[in-house]
Amino acid sequence: IKPIVIAVDGPAASGKGTVSRRIAHFYDLEYLDTGRLYRGVGWLVLASGLDPRNPDEAASIAETFTLPLIDGADIRTPEVGRAASHVAAVPAVRAALLQFQRDFAFNPPAGRAGTVLDGRDIGTVICPDATVKLFIDASAEERAKRRWKELSLQDPSIALESVLDDIRRRDRRDASRAAAPMKAAQDAHLIDTTNLDIDGAFAAVRRVIDRAT
Ligand code: C5P
Repeated sequence: IKPIVIAVDGPAASGKGTVSRRIAHFYDLEYLDTGRLYRGVGWLVLASGLDPRNPDEAASIAETFTLPLIDGADIRTPEVGRAASHVAAVPAVRAALLQFQRDFAFNPPAGRAGTVLDGRDIGTVICPDATVKLFIDASAEERAKRRWKELSLQDPSIALESVLDDIRRRDRRDASRAAAPMKAAQDAHLIDTTNLDIDGAFAAVRRVIDRAT
């Protein structure tokens, strides 16, 4: 039997990660945050003293990348997020990470009916035949507020304006690149979480999944 695959795409701080973890827990599915792969490559490029804007250097790191290489690394910083979005625009980087994501999607561990993957191109490129596709969005202002709350726990001096600026730049880069740009698949269900809390967002997602499975 074919595994259930739930594809969750959307921009930074839209709530897609939290929603995806809730889906995985509730439906007992295996979860992959694909942003970790791009952040991991971005982090390794920086840690190796290389330049995330140099496509050849990014590609050479991606070709030997595995998740254990970033065990314990802090990949959630704004700097690593920026590096991730630069390396993610390089076609050879995306190609190097593709098979791992497909293998993960279609080979859930014994006892699990399927998988949840979140990212930018899961419904369009990685799993175009996913059982359910979701595109989770929210206004840039609301997303910046959420990310700012998170980041200010570690760095109380961080300004909301700079977080918003970062989010806008990253959206622009992710949506305008030629290789697998961030966009909703034609058959994706759009969920706008601007005025929803986590419970509200998850309730909306459940309605979509329960109708489709
Ligand atoms: O989701 P997250 O913010 O952790 O992703 C970091 C960056 O990795 C994104 O800004 C995007 O450039 C890239 N990414 C991607 N494709 C994915 C997941 C993440 O291009 N499937």
